[in-house]
Parts: sequence; structure tokens; C-alpha cells
Amino acid sequence: MQNSTTIGFIGAGNMAYALISGLVNNGFNAQNIKLSDTDAALLSLRADEFNLEVFTDNIELAAQCDVIVFAVKPQVLSIVCKQLQTHIDHKPLMISIAAGVRATDINRWLGGDIAIVRTMPNTPALLGKGATGMMANKAVSNEQKALAERILGAVSECLWVEDEKMLDVVTALSGSGPAYFFLMIESMTKAAVALGLDEKTAEQLSIQTALGASMMSSNSEDSAHELRAKVTSPNGTTQAAIESFQDQNFEMLVSHAMRAAFDRAREMGVELGDDD
Ligand SMILES: NC(=O)c1ccc[n+]([C@@H]2O[C@H](COP(=O)([O-])OP(=O)(O)OC[C@H]3O[C@@H](n4cnc5c(N)ncnc54)[C@H](OP(=O)(O)O)[C@@H]3O)[C@@H](O)[C@H]2O)c1
Repeated sequence: MQNSTTIGFIGAGNMAYALISGLVNNGFNAQNIKLSDTDAALLSLRADEFNLEVFTDNIELAAQCDVIVFAVKPQVLSIVCKQLQTHIDHKPLMISIAAGVRATDINRWLGGDIAIVRTMPNTPALLGKGATGMMANKAVSNEQKALAERILGAVSECLWVEDEKMLDVVTALSGSGPAYFFLMIESMTKAAVALGLDEKTAEQLSIQTALGASMMSSNSEDSAHELRAKVTSPNGTTQAAIESFQDQNFEMLVSHAMRAAFDRAREMGVELGDDD
């Protein structure tokens, strides 16, 4: 990304804050970041913290940017896009982080023939530890793809998918995924309390175990399956627990849950695009 590239964020909420922090921490010049929102008080806070230019008018912001990141709620995106439609002759790259809104709908709302990267980040992006699925439409150049990857890469691991439909799988996997792990932490804590441990100790051990297992998995050459085999001694405690999970068909439970998330993501895509 050239140092002169100007990035405009529409929506100054949590995700824009995380992305701007990530970019600035990675050495991107805040002078080349612009931010718009309807909330003047929030803009003032952001301007004070990052020393960047802020706008209450999205059109004014768009006119000055090479890249525009849509960081508003999904339900607001059609309004914002239609507002910009006749003000983007300079053809900025459009990046959407809005959950569920399809690139084809964004393209239509913006007037067509627009370079769009649609992304699906997840909540750990707020701590710089996100996982983001990304998809580019045909109008996006390789240079623009690299630019989008640098922006989302400031807070997350970025993985590309070719087919937009795969973003519904990404939604069911990494988009909703943090909540699956929270449920596991919650369930393990409750089970330990039922076995007699105090709640605070149980919760701390659960959280640290999730963190340690995740780090082992991410730092190791071994697959999760191999790591599990290595920590499962024959006839030991782990084997007893894993066999109990398997007796209850744990894999099927996960598979059904992710299918439900996938189906809902598809439904939401249709609902959010149905603005006529
Ligand atoms: N938070 C996450 O972890 C996460 C993860 C994955 C994806 N996302 C996606 O990221 C997007 C932003 O999420 P967020 O959590 O950052 O939301 P947020 O904190 O609510 O921020 C959105 C901001 O946009 C402002 N806004 C509303 N209408 C606007 C308009 N017409 N023009 C300009 N700004 C406007 C809102 O102001 P008001 O509050 O006054 O309406 C708010 O300040 C969402 O689409 C969400 O699906 C978020």
C-alpha cells in the first residue's frame, strides 16, 4: 500500500476503531485515514485519539478516498451505498465488513461496475486476533486485493474465498465460531463446579486451557487430530472423556449447529438484499 493511499471509514464504531488502531500501530499514517459517522461526539473522540480528519457527511469523505470501508451495521448499508451512488466517479475500492450483506447487492446499490471486497471478520479482531474470510468481485485488481488484505490484516488473519457463497460457510465457521468456544468454556466451567471446584478457579482453568490449546494448535505442524491423539493416553482420563463425547456424537452436534448458522447466513443475505 502506498503511503499516499487514502482510506475512508464510514461508521466510527467498534470495528472501525479496531481497524484504525491496527493500521496506525502497523505504521500507517493517520493523516491518510478519514472517518465519517452520524455521531459527532464519537467522531470528536476518534479525532482526538488518532489525529485524523472526520466528517459527518459520507459523500464529502468518499470524494477524498482511494478506499472506502463500510463499517456501519448491515441494516444501514443500503442507505449509505445509495447515498454515494452518484459521487464515486473516481472509482474507489469499496470494502465491506458488514455481516451478511452480499457484494452483488452492494454493487447494485452503488450503481454497478464497482470494485468490491466483501469481508467477514470476527469479534477477536477487536483485540487484533481476528480471522477474516474475504472475497473480491471481478472488478477488483490484484493491487486492490493486496490493499484490502493489508487493511483487514491489521487486526486478523485473512483468507480469500473465490465464490461469495463460501462466505456463508466462513460466517458459520469463524464468524459465529468465537461463541462456540465461549460455550465450551462455559460448559467446562459448569461441569468442574458440579464436580466440586470453586467457580473462579474453574473458569480461569477453562479459559487458560482454551488459550493454551489454541496456541499449541496454531504453533504446531501437527493437525488438531494428531495433537489430540498425542495427548490421549490409552486407557487414561482424556480417552475416557473423548469416548464419552463420541458416544454422544459430538461431531454430529457440531455439524448440525454449523449447518443452522450457514442456513441462517443465507437467509439473512436474502433479507438484507431485499430492499425494493
Ligand atoms: N463488532 C464485531 O466484532 C464485528 C465482527 C464482524 C463484523 N462486524 C460488522 O462490522 C460492522 C460494524 O460493526 P460495529 O460493531 O463496529 O458497529 P457499531 O459499533 O454500531 O458502529 C457503527 C457506527 O456506524 C454509525 N452509523 C449509523 N448510520 C450511519 C450512517 N448513515 N453513516 C455513517 N455512520 C453511521 C453508527 O452510529 P449510531 O450508533 O448512532 O447508529 C455507529 O457509530 C457491522 O456491519 C458488523 O456486522 C462486526
